[in-house]
Amino acid sequence: MQDKIKNINTLEELQVLYTETYGKNGTMTARLKEMKNLDNDARAALNTENAALRELFKTRQTEIENAVLMAGLQKQRLDTSLNPEPENRGTLHPLTQSLSEISEILESFGYKRYTGPEIEDDWHNFTALNTPMHHPARDMQDSFFLENGKVLRTQTSAIQIRAMESDGVPIKMFGIGSTYRKEWDATHGPMFGQIEGLYIDKNITMSSLLADIRAFLSRFFGLEDVELRIRPSYFPFTDPSIEVDMKWKNDKWLELMGAGMVHPNVLRNCGINPDEYQGFAFGFGWDRLAMLKYNLPDLRDLYNNDVRWLKSAGF
Ligand code: DAH
Repeated sequence: MQDKIKNINTLEELQVLYTETYGKNGTMTARLKEMKNLDNDARAALNTENAALRELFKTRQTEIENAVLMAGLQKQRLDTSLNPEPENRGTLHPLTQSLSEISEILESFGYKRYTGPEIEDDWHNFTALNTPMHHPARDMQDSFFLENGKVLRTQTSAIQIRAMESDGVPIKMFGIGSTYRKEWDATHGPMFGQIEGLYIDKNITMSSLLADIRAFLSRFFGLEDVELRIRPSYFPFTDPSIEVDMKWKNDKWLELMGAGMVHPNVLRNCGINPDEYQGFAFGFGWDRLAMLKYNLPDLRDLYNNDVRWLKSAGF
């Protein structure tokens, strides 16, 4: 019987033999039925034989099951020499990446992050920024006006007004968000990202401004030293106003940002005494900075969300 079981190689055959042995009319079943007629020794011997036989069936069943499993696995074996499909992992969009880098740097300098509404009222976008109705500087920005008199924020400078109104001075903040103007070419889109920095306290000077800008640019571009060029400029909300250029790799000067000392009228508009407090502000397009950092030729690509382009640009 033992050999018979060991020679069986399929579960079906094993099942047949099991039924022949333990089924209703099975050989062992019959013997067990007669057990009551046996003496003690014979009874004990039968019990032992029965237990061993059951064990044998169980062991063989496990062996056959394992063999079947192994055979299946052998057949299904993967060909690991094939090149796998390239992994399609998502990444952060270049704008998101530079946005968080910029925020991190400014926050490490002690600037607190603020946001504001993209549909802005006239006061925050223009008037409080020393650009009242009919001021010629309103023409510097080709604005999208809404029927209700509001405007799609043309500059994140609006956020500095909101921050001063809500938190007063001293204040060291940056505002960040989307801004809108009627523009469309390789370096300008109708929507672009802007950052506005503001630092107002009792002893803030133009040199504090330049120190922060220099430190910021060298951190962001990973340059040990940055060469800056300061040009006089005009913005209604700063006096004096400057434009900051940076010398780029090919010795080209790049216009990076506007800045200046906050105009006393702006402080007054926010209920701050300009004889006591003064400070600087700066503003720049963060998508332009991303373009430079990642060497991208057309700003509009950043907003098309074309995955093929993003991948070919290395993102
Ligand atoms: N708001 C200006 C613009 O959109 C940028 C700017 C220039 C912001 C000078 C400033 C500043 O805070 O001081 O063109």
